[in-house]
Amino acid sequence: MTTNRPQPQRVLRGLSRRERVEQNAMSDWWHPVGWAADLTDAPRRTVLLGRTLVLWRDEAGTARCLRDLCVHRGTALSLGEVTDGRIVCPYHGWRFDGDGSCTLIPQFPPSRPVPAGAAVPAFRCEERYGLIWVCLGEPTVDIPDFPEWGAPGFRHAPCPPYTWRTSAARMVENFTDFGHLGWLHDGLLGSRDDVVVPEHTVDRRGHELRYTLTMNVPAADGVNDLDGEVGTMINTYVLSLPHVIHLRSHYHDTGRSRVLYFAAQPVDDETAIGYCYQSRDFDLDGDDKRYVAFQETLAEQDRVVVESQRPEQLPMDIADELHMKFDQVAVAYRRAFADHGL
Ligand code: FES
Ligand code: FE
Repeated sequence: MTTNRPQPQRVLRGLSRRERVEQNAMSDWWHPVGWAADLTDAPRRTVLLGRTLVLWRDEAGTARCLRDLCVHRGTALSLGEVTDGRIVCPYHGWRFDGDGSCTLIPQFPPSRPVPAGAAVPAFRCEERYGLIWVCLGEPTVDIPDFPEWGAPGFRHAPCPPYTWRTSAARMVENFTDFGHLGWLHDGLLGSRDDVVVPEHTVDRRGHELRYTLTMNVPAADGVNDLDGEVGTMINTYVLSLPHVIHLRSHYHDTGRSRVLYFAAQPVDDETAIGYCYQSRDFDLDGDDKRYVAFQETLAEQDRVVVESQRPEQLPMDIADELHMKFDQVAVAYRRAFADHGL
């Protein structure tokens, strides 16, 4: 487990006036930008909240994040290379440290110092729970907790990221929409014969929503740890603003649990990438493929309907869509967004 604490970076150094204006409330939260295992010392481009970023690992293996735009001529730094832990622009070879400062302009004679203005914005970057997280501003709260990570007796299976043409908030809301479970995922997460949503209450604690539902679920090809073909599952959710869900599903019959940790990357207003762990405290020597395939099947069923939703952004005015009592999590989620100015 790697839990790098915030680096003493000169965050936001070199931001132009225009970029400062582009900072908004969503900038002050941690967002996932990729699996840590996929980040090497080679530059990797990503987009977060409409801003293009370059990520890489420095010589110490620490994840770094800069704006993907060279201060010299606006070239994408992600097309360059990493030398001695610093990123080198592909156009004229200017070299930038992880804090955004330029350390070398090859066109200068050795005696000439690099001007202080030769810098690109650097952003806070952390590695936690096998994910890389970036905050473009000042983090409001810490990265949402994943208590089972590093706990003995749990096995964590990362699923391939899925990219949907929708907002991250629509993606998250789908993940916690109970009315669709037995209908859209008939035979996998419930049954069309039993779609009445059980009573539940939403406990709002600041930026978190907590709620628990007890549901009947099918064995789903052995993904659920049941004694028979149908069993009772107690689902305890923690939804953390803006885009993270921790779901612990406890099997009443066997006492064991499956856990989902889901985090969405808001690429832009109409694109989101979901990162999801399927974790379990049973079948510890079993093949992860079954669990990952199960998640992929669900996600593909969801993708088709969520990508059809208009508007792509979540309507924050509660009057804009027709909410039923069983949609109370969605209502609470939208209210929490509005209360936090998101
Ligand atoms: Fe990057 Fe010239 S454009 S070094
Ligand atoms: Fe679904």
